Amino acid sequence: MSKMFYITTAIDYVNGQPHLGHAYEKVITDVIARARRSLGQDVFFLTGLDEHGQKVQQAAQAEGKTPQAYCDGLAADWLAFAQKLELTNNDFVRTTSARHKEFVQAILAKLHAAGEFYTATYKGFYSPKEETFLTEKDRRPDGTFDPAYGQVIELEETNYWFKLQAHQQWLIDYIEANPSFVQPDYRRNEVLGFLKNNTLEDLCISRPLARLNWGIPLPFDKDYVTYVWFDALVNYISVPAAHGDAAVLATTSGYQPSTINSQLSLWPADIHVIGKDILKFHAVFWPIMLKAMGLPLPKQILVHGWWQKDGAKMSKSTGNVVDPVAVINEWGVDAFRFYVVRELAIGPDGNWTDAGFKSRYQAELANGLGNLVNRSLSMLKRYRNGIVPTRHDELAPDAAKVIADTKALLEQSDLQGALQSIWQLVNRANQYVDQTAPFKLAKDPAQTQRLDEVLYNLVESCRVLAVLLYPFIPQTAAKIFTQLNASGTPDKFSAATWGGLQAGHAIGDPAPLFPRKDV
Ligand code: MSP
Repeated sequence: MSKMFYITTAIDYVNGQPHLGHAYEKVITDVIARARRSLGQDVFFLTGLDEHGQKVQQAAQAEGKTPQAYCDGLAADWLAFAQKLELTNNDFVRTTSARHKEFVQAILAKLHAAGEFYTATYKGFYSPKEETFLTEKDRRPDGTFDPAYGQVIELEETNYWFKLQAHQQWLIDYIEANPSFVQPDYRRNEVLGFLKNNTLEDLCISRPLARLNWGIPLPFDKDYVTYVWFDALVNYISVPAAHGDAAVLATTSGYQPSTINSQLSLWPADIHVIGKDILKFHAVFWPIMLKAMGLPLPKQILVHGWWQKDGAKMSKSTGNVVDPVAVINEWGVDAFRFYVVRELAIGPDGNWTDAGFKSRYQAELANGLGNLVNRSLSMLKRYRNGIVPTRHDELAPDAAKVIADTKALLEQSDLQGALQSIWQLVNRANQYVDQTAPFKLAKDPAQTQRLDEVLYNLVESCRVLAVLLYPFIPQTAAKIFTQLNASGTPDKFSAATWGGLQAGHAIGDPAPLFPRKDV
């Protein structure tokens, strides 16, 4: 079984409803997954939920529910959300599932037996909100801790620790030798800067049961549960293990997959898509955990920025949140997917404004793509009874360039660049309508052949565009294919080759793709 292209998202904390930030990450990952499938790769796309930890325990308590009942209720909402976004994930992990918990315990047992853990008593500061220990170095210049840590308490506690320091130089060398391991480059430099300027402190991997019971019990000490990050990161391999991935199972003899449904070859992951706030966990702790387990590292950690709304942090208390479900209900899932990918490259921070969203909808979707498809198909209907004329190649070179550029950009996960490239063809074809003025040609019997040529170039451009756009706006791509009555589906990039529409083919009925709205 040849290795699949394995791509993951971060798994979301299940202590509230999904927001724009969660939606963005899942959409960009889905676009990459769909693009790779379209380009002919076998893809496995994993997303899911991070359900353990203090915050969940407290939120459940506040609602008078058991943590599991609380998680089950919210998990249903998050699953529905994944569908609303049109995600094509192949599995959905929940860290409270038996398959995940058993695997985490097998890993813990293995690392414990290998002497990777030790116990030590810690006395110092702790942030219950962030579930993290703090040191003097974490104090701000005025002596206080960042409000993000919430109330900081003093604590004395014995725990299990994972040895990190011995691997510090190895990790620096690895990241220097593998420039694409962390992308974009400035995130890679951030990790290298951190590793070169700090001595890595060992990672506390347990929490005493007396303080936190909503976690996976350590298999070698019943008085403790696993620290939530040690549990969460392992999802990237627990799911492959559950599917019988030989590379992962080879290192965890204690684990027997019970939910095995096929033999998949997944690990190492090709891309972990994550937000900038969890870079250290993925680019420092996770590689060292994998090294200790004897597993190869993921090929890439692709780090996206954070969305704000109207230039400010999104926060429920101030009311400036973007509710992706409300946007999708009003404008359609493709408009949402298009906006977030087109507006923000994968890397920098972004800013959502309702005005910006509406303006891209009007200009690029309704007046750009929608208008092109609608007038091209309507003219073919009106002037040629919907029958495709003889092939003509006037726009073929423009299309060929856009196809080649888009392919290269998709292979680099430059999704914003790919949309910009595709819109060169949208704009070129719209300009072609204005230049050739088919409505005038139609009035002149001497221009019959010229009108045939123009109409062919337009409808064939629409067909090629549907294929190029499929990973981004799949519903729209399907609608264009339906309106063209084109054979097959738009999900194979190889179909983006000029000349697919045959002379004599009868198209279907045109209908507006993006209804204009009074805004
Ligand atoms: N559970 C951890 C991740 C464990 S991965 C093994 C977590 N969960 S989270 O729900 O807080 O965040 C999930 C993802 O959403 C993260 O990648 C995070 O960066 C992303 N985002 C959360 N808010 C965001 C924005 N405002 N904008 C963009 N992405 C943001 O961290």
